[in-house]
Amino acid sequence: MAVLDVDDISIRFGGLQALGNVSVKAQELEIVGLIGPNGAGKTTLFNCITGFYRPNDGRVRFLGVDVTEIPIHQRAAMGMGRTFQQVGLVKGATVLENLITAQHTKVEYSAGAGILGAGNTWAEEKVLRQRAMEILDLVGLAHLAHRRVAGLPYGTMKNVEMAAVLATDPEILMLDEPTSGMGPEESHTFGDVLLRLRKELGLTVLMIEHHVPLVVAVCDYVYCLNFGQLLTEGKPEDVRTHPEVVTAYLGEEAEEVA
Ligand SMILES: Nc1ncnc2c1ncn2[C@@H]1O[C@H](COP(=O)(O)OP(=O)(O)O)[C@@H](O)[C@H]1O
Ligand SMILES: [Mg+2]
Repeated sequence: MAVLDVDDISIRFGGLQALGNVSVKAQELEIVGLIGPNGAGKTTLFNCITGFYRPNDGRVRFLGVDVTEIPIHQRAAMGMGRTFQQVGLVKGATVLENLITAQHTKVEYSAGAGILGAGNTWAEEKVLRQRAMEILDLVGLAHLAHRRVAGLPYGTMKNVEMAAVLATDPEILMLDEPTSGMGPEESHTFGDVLLRLRKELGLTVLMIEHHVPLVVAVCDYVYCLNFGQLLTEGKPEDVRTHPEVVTAYLGEEAEEVA
């Protein structure tokens, strides 16, 4: 059973067919890449998967459950964790506070479940704080725990946002352009971190990513979208060299892809 099974999704905005019959799968422990030029529909697909948008056609199955009709917060409570293309953090709060807040939100979503079901006691707070610090350690951000998010470089904020999602213990981690704002070296390090996270947290990952060397380095499988349609899918090396993919990227990152 696939962790995520997106079956034949279509969505229109007025006259614009933003997605047409798109199917994407992520198996347990896979890192799946979603590439394609700007405006291809990648973020829209994330919004359909997570419930921000309701597709006109098609189904989304998560952990074997058809979630197409259920609201965002229930999908999150089931373990859909996603980051945003524009960082979704409380900028005035510290890194640690953001990770604790993220867990509170998840607790509210799944109220009644587990030891953190109700109330907000000191003991519960301590558990959330400990989990937050574990995650920060794992992603190499522990030294920034007490820094305000607002003063951090954009690339670091993207990492903090990912950590905040991880603190909610997701089944699938959905990343929207995680390396935007990072240089080549930082992106490379990010790839190593992602591989370690998969191993240590048993994660499945769906990642929108422009940085092709990173996609090739970490992804097990890649889908390429163009104008709302799946152009091709397959092993990263095959997708990267696919003539239509190279053409689709012309004028954008052609030199990086070719
Ligand atoms: N809520 C919306 N209303 C109207 N058009 C939208 C909406 N969301 C996305 N679009 C359009 O859908 C297309 C795909 O956008 P998007 O998914 O953000 O692309 P990508 O993430 O691949 O760069 C774009 O033309 C965008 O303008
Ligand atoms: Mg996008």
